[in-house]
Amino acid sequence: MNILVTGGAGYIGSITCVQLIEAGHRPVILDSLVNAKAAVLGRIAQVSGIQPSFMEGDVRNKALLVQVLHDHKIDAVIHFAGLKAVGESVDHPLRYYDNNVQGTLVLIDAMNQVGVKTLVFSSSATVYAPSHDMPLHEASVKGASSPYGRSKWMVEEILADVVASDPSWSMTALRYFNPVGAHPSGLMGEDPQGVPNNLMPFIAQLAVGQRSVLRVFGNDYETPDGTGVRDYIHVMDLADGHLAALQHAHGRAGHHVFNLGSGQGHSVLEMLATFAQACGKSLLHEFAPRRSGDLAAFWADASLAEKVLGWRVRRSLQAMCEDTWRWQSQNPKGYTS
Ligand code: NAD
Ligand code: UD1
Repeated sequence: MNILVTGGAGYIGSITCVQLIEAGHRPVILDSLVNAKAAVLGRIAQVSGIQPSFMEGDVRNKALLVQVLHDHKIDAVIHFAGLKAVGESVDHPLRYYDNNVQGTLVLIDAMNQVGVKTLVFSSSATVYAPSHDMPLHEASVKGASSPYGRSKWMVEEILADVVASDPSWSMTALRYFNPVGAHPSGLMGEDPQGVPNNLMPFIAQLAVGQRSVLRVFGNDYETPDGTGVRDYIHVMDLADGHLAALQHAHGRAGHHVFNLGSGQGHSVLEMLATFAQACGKSLLHEFAPRRSGDLAAFWADASLAEKVLGWRVRRSLQAMCEDTWRWQSQNPKGYTS
């Protein structure tokens, strides 16, 4: 299939493009490069042997989208393009609603005009309301606690409404838990700007000496070792989840929602210890107060994706750490251009 991959120069999108190529599809990337570097395109080619078509542009540009959908005879769209920094979304909510919600409206409008009716959307576990009732399954109570999370939930509701109004659409929302890891080649991975907010990229920078100490946010949670527990998923497994969702969606109209997670929780200290083993260094940490807005623990019930898509995670926590270490140690400054 010819697949339009919005945000395909980003962390998850670029690795998904490699997996799409390996499965015989032809990805066409549209990315504004607001949070990516053009160097990633050369890495996709180096890893997969094929340089995908790339358009630098914004998903809010309808004329451009119509042209790309038409010229490349696109069969389906995977929509990664979006802003994702939770704290920034609190300070600049309109920026998030405009980019993430309006961007999706324009995309759907353009798809409708050209007659492309299969869309796979990057949603997030952050759409669920805080809860002690684990694991989270697709029907668990919703209640995002940031403009970023609400932008994801709004889009999910829009997708459902569009399918209700025109049942020929196939709309799939994938709720990612905590994506980490890198391509096993060490050539592609996460390249955050500034000090990483998220745990895994921070640990990776600590391991290469760019950070001095990990501040562990809270060691008094009701978890086995007192630190926060999350469901980490290898980005390669996540990419494979998109292929499975695409295969399921194509030619099957309707509205579909799946959790993509491992179904297992791991604590901050467990992550740190596994990474230390992977890189062969001892990594300094200190306990700090809880981070505001953090939950003690959450993980996915990923059984629906296994039952319907035939997909489940295959890569271990050790592989997540080893692959991240390979990427970070070979590219300490990330993609340099
Ligand atoms: P990323 O920032 O690396 O990738 C997003 C890409 O979209 C970037 O390359 C950026 O330049 C591009 N982009 C943003 N706005 C655009 C626009 N208006 N037009 C065109 N391109 C635009 O992020 P990622 O980690 O790869 O995440 C991909 C998607 O998955 C995002 O929608 C994110 O919200 C969602 N998600 C990510 C996580 C995570 O932890 N990484 C978790 C849940 C959901
Ligand atoms: C973050 C996002 C969430 C997103 C998710 C997926 C926030 C507030 N939430 O959540 O919207 O869906 O990523 O990637 O950003 N930790 C430390 N020290 C650090 C960094 C993190 O102890 O320097 C701890 C956190 O307290 C948490 C765990 O590590 O217990 C994971 O944190 P993080 O990687 O930021 O992910 P989430 O909190 O799940």
